[in-house]
Amino acid sequence: MDREELLEALCGEVRVCVKCRLSKTRTNAVPGEGSVRPRVMLVGEGPGREEDEQGRPFVGAAGKLLDELLASIGLSRAEAYIANVVKCRPPGNRPPTKEEIEACLPYLRRQMELLEPRVVCLLGNTAIKTLLDEDAWVARVHGRAYTRGGRTVIPMYHPAAAIYTATLKPVLLEDMKKLEKILEKGVKRHVGKMFPDSDMKNTRFST
Ligand code: URA
Ligand code: SF4
Repeated sequence: MDREELLEALCGEVRVCVKCRLSKTRTNAVPGEGSVRPRVMLVGEGPGREEDEQGRPFVGAAGKLLDELLASIGLSRAEAYIANVVKCRPPGNRPPTKEEIEACLPYLRRQMELLEPRVVCLLGNTAIKTLLDEDAWVARVHGRAYTRGGRTVIPMYHPAAAIYTATLKPVLLEDMKKLEKILEKGVKRHVGKMFPDSDMKNTRFST
């Protein structure tokens, strides 16, 4: 099977998955979508109401802002791959639990292995805590480049946060500029004491 077929098979598995209780309340699972050779992979928290209705990631208000952020550095959805930590909507948009994240994470891992993105953008604390470090907070780490599983990961605020807190939008736009530089020129890695590149002990993600 080629990459497209493997990815489609994986998405098919997600659509019928019953590995956690979120399967009981979802309308549609939201596997993810985009390029099979993405320049960047974007990882959110989990589907909201509109995503659950359509089975597609980031199609609501946060998605509109995400499109705008991508466009600000000349990127389209078609050049990226957009996915979430959990593929089914947590009721009432509560954050997913540790158990739900653990049940769902193998799908995101397989997506990353298949798509081989060089750069992964972590949108919000759920993605950051799951894929960068459990003790990391977006306010501390946003806009910096780290390495996890051989890839560059860049934490950012979740676009939904910028809808509620208008001052975060310019922060997001600035962090997108950093992403643009990294995509153009490669990475100048963050080498501070906080969550250094080699420190894998605290992350649930490893390949
Ligand atoms: N918020 C997310 O984290 N993911 C989506 O797909 C939509 C909103
Ligand atoms: Fe399966 Fe993930 Fe949906 Fe849970 S959230 S049912 S693990 S696809």
